[in-house]
Amino acid sequence: MEDAKQLVVAIARVLSAAVEMHDPYTAGHHERVAELTRAMGWELGLDVESLEKLYIAALIHDVGKIGLPVEILGKPCVLERNEMKLIKMHPVLGYNLVRKAGLPQPIPEVIYQHHERLDGSGYPRGLKGDQIILEARVLAVADVVEAIVSNRPHRNALGLEAALYELSKNQGKLYDPRVVQVCVKLLSGERKGFLLSASPRISPDS
Ligand SMILES: [Fe+2]
Repeated sequence: MEDAKQLVVAIARVLSAAVEMHDPYTAGHHERVAELTRAMGWELGLDVESLEKLYIAALIHDVGKIGLPVEILGKPCVLERNEMKLIKMHPVLGYNLVRKAGLPQPIPEVIYQHHERLDGSGYPRGLKGDQIILEARVLAVADVVEAIVSNRPHRNALGLEAALYELSKNQGKLYDPRVVQVCVKLLSGERKGFLLSASPRISPDS
């Protein structure tokens, strides 16, 4: 049984590495998001099986980006409307890939919902509040935090303070306040160094 679990994690890592080869700006992103997501899930009291599934979902949450053009993923400026529309397809593409492959719920649903926001302003379905499952609300916060502390094609890393500000500003609006509370606790303590030491992203010049 343990061997089977290790096999699934290893395959998930292969998939996340494949996404990161396709989108070099996300180098290391999945692993860091998965670590933070799992730590948050643990703090929120999820059981071991739920934590394992959440970790797998976090490792491959952007797998749908494999279906998107590299030119759009790495574009060093703000995207045009039609390009943004394509980007917003990645949770759907990922959901379809993972569901067809037979990975158990809630893994496909977490991937489908990881860009949904409490007030309905997220995508792809504009789900609100409790329509968004807890695991997806946890992953959403970890994903946002990791994105803010990392370089992006159109901007440099904004730092941990900016991440904490984003969470405090939008808790209850975009993000689950209980999830934010747990994330802030981790980032203020044991996980602070973890995100700050995130390996720098590959820049277009390197
Ligand atoms: Fe995503």
